[in-house]
This record gives sequence, C-alpha cells and structure tokens, in this order.
Amino acid sequence: MVEGIVVVTGASGYIGSHIVANLLKRGREVRATVRDASDPERVDHLRALDISHQGSLEIVEMDLFDTASVDAAIKGCSDVIHTAASVIIRASNPQKKIVDPSVIGTQNIVDSIERAGSVKRFIHTSSTAAIRPMEWTDGQMLTSDTWADDATVEENPYGLAKASAERIVRNWHASQPVDSRPRLVTIHPCMVFGPPMSPRHLRGSLALLMTMIRREIPLNLPMQVSIVDVRDVAEAHVRALTEGEDCGRYLVVAGDMMMHEMALALKKQHPERKWATLQAPYLLALIAAIFHPKINVAWARRHLKKKLYWDAAPAERELGMKWMNPIDSVLSTTAPIFENGWD
Ligand SMILES: NC(=O)c1ccc[n+]([C@@H]2O[C@H](COP(=O)([O-])OP(=O)(O)OC[C@H]3O[C@@H](n4cnc5c(N)ncnc54)[C@H](OP(=O)(O)O)[C@@H]3O)[C@@H](O)[C@H]2O)c1
Repeated sequence: MVEGIVVVTGASGYIGSHIVANLLKRGREVRATVRDASDPERVDHLRALDISHQGSLEIVEMDLFDTASVDAAIKGCSDVIHTAASVIIRASNPQKKIVDPSVIGTQNIVDSIERAGSVKRFIHTSSTAAIRPMEWTDGQMLTSDTWADDATVEENPYGLAKASAERIVRNWHASQPVDSRPRLVTIHPCMVFGPPMSPRHLRGSLALLMTMIRREIPLNLPMQVSIVDVRDVAEAHVRALTEGEDCGRYLVVAGDMMMHEMALALKKQHPERKWATLQAPYLLALIAAIFHPKINVAWARRHLKKKLYWDAAPAERELGMKWMNPIDSVLSTTAPIFENGWD
C-alpha cells in the first residue's frame, strides 16, 4: 500500500480526535482539519498526541462550506477519513444547522477528491441513523441492508443528513471508473462513549452521560442505549483503509445497556457522588416527554421500552473488530471529565 498523507476532517471532534491519535500511533502522516486552529479546545489535545516512527501531524483550517479550503486540505493526499458533520438532532432551523453541513459539506468533499485525483482510500463516517427507518418493530435486528429513507427534515433531520450524505458518497463512487476510483468504506457507529479529549467532546453523544453526571434528570428514561467505544470506532475507521470490502457498509456496535443500568454502574464506580439510578415508569416518561425540551411524545412512543439490535458481525468478520465491553466504555468516559473539572 502506498502510504501518503491521510486527511482527517473534523479532527477537533470526538471521533476525529481519536482517529488522529490512532493514525499517529501507527506512524502515519496526518493532515487534521479544524475550523479554527487558534482555539485551544480544538487543537491543544491534538498537538499533545504521541507520534510514532515517521509519523507527523499537520493541522489545517477547513470549513466544509468553503470549497477552496476543502481543496487545499485534500490536495496531494492518498487517504481521506471524512468525519466532519453537524452532530445535533434538534435545531430551530434543521435544514441549515443539521442537514446542509452533511449534504453540502460531503458534496464538497467528494468534488475535491475528484479534483485532487490522488486519493486511493476514502472512509466516510456515517451512522446507525442512516440505517434506522422511522418505523421498526420491538426486538428487531437491523443490518446494513436498511436505509433511513423515510427520514424528513421535520421528523428526523439527523437521519436525513446522514443518509443523504452517504448517498452522495456512494452515488459519486458508483459513477467513477472502477479501476481509478478510490476504495470506499462507510462506518456506522451507534451511540459513542469513551474518553473525551476536550471539553468540546461533551456535546454530542456524551451529552446523555453529562445529564446523568450533572443530575439534570431525577429519573432515567426506560431507554435502551446501543453503545460502542470511541477507540473502537477509531480503530474501525483506520482498519477500513485497508481491510473489509470495497463499498463496505459496516455497523460498529458493541452492545447495549438501559439508561438506569449505566447509572447503577457509574454509582458503583463513583459512590462519593449522587446519581439518579431509578427508572421512570413508562407512562410517566411519556408525560415527561410532553414537556421535555429535547424529546417529544412521538419519539418517546417509538423508542421507550423498546429494543432494537444491530448486526455488527460483518465488522467483526471483515475488519477483525473486537469490541470493548459497553460498561467499560461508559466507565472510562468519566475519568477525564472529573480530572479536568469538566463536570
Ligand atoms: N458521537 C456519536 O455517537 C456518533 C454516532 C454515529 C455517527 N457519528 C458521526 O461521527 C462523526 C463525528 O462525530 P463526533 O461525535 O466526533 O462529533 P463532534 O465531536 O461534534 O465532531 C464533529 C466535527 O465536525 C466538525 N465540523 C462541523 N461542521 C463543520 C463544518 N462546517 N466545516 C468543517 N468541520 C465541521 C466539527 O468542527 P468544530 O470543532 O469546529 O465544531 C468537529 O470537528 C459525524 O459524522 C457523526 O455524524 C457520531
């Protein structure tokens, strides 16, 4: 394999930072894209990373909406790992805040890859959100054959953003000559936990854990949480550069816990702190959803008390992934938060 520069978009982010760390440990030359290289919370933890052998780290500014910056970031590289996206599920203008960064941003990435002509491997961070349709049955297992095709900007803007961005990537790839197009793999994590490297990493998937740490809710929702460790997510992205099938679509999911089980494990690890460990009865949770700022009754009826499973066997078989235990992922999240006073 020709090992040139690997570009990681969204490198200041939670998953992007761990991918950069993984690549540098392997001695790769990494070009990390951030929106503001003067912000210590976006770059200090990257600059502090260990670099092995011939590895190197270059931090460049890139905004997905600024095509010149995207071209400059991708120029001359052999590998692209595209994690950058807006990772929020609700916004007052969901088209602008959630969908456009993924859709316009990913189109700009693909256009730059085509213009650059040097890219041999392209890994796109998708999500279980691109796979889960609005309607599913309790106890169902979803595979990578399913798409969130029924997502709408009103009902499921994040699912729409992730599915649409992935379609852009796959349609572009399918339109390219087979012998000259880059190898393409999409990675589909569920809810990601594990050590944050910056306080900025507490705003996406870790926001759920932060509500528990800050005791913002008196009772836990009767909600199943599918979990994968951020270090495993990074490993899957890096392995996908060379392993797995071209055009592969890999779910990366370690297992699941109910919210109150997470709280009980956290209480056992940190008995000196107060934790809300009880689970709200279903009917009470439905009533709470009426007044809750972040969820609504339709979402609650669809998700609470129900189980949904994901087929991660292809990632185990074809990428050789072995997953960290979900409890260990949850518990390993808190140390950097408490040590740095981010709580
Ligand atoms: N965390 C999860 O549970 C999870 C699960 C499944 C899939 N994913 C996917 O994984 C990827 C990374 O998520 P994450 O959890 O690491 O989120 P994150 O910490 O919020 O990171 C997102 C990154 O994207 C960058 N970004 C956002 N808008 C941008 C723009 N217009 N131009 C350039 N960069 C932009 C952010 O830069 P700034 O630092 O400047 O904001 C940040 O570096 C996303 O594609 C997400 O959909 C995440």
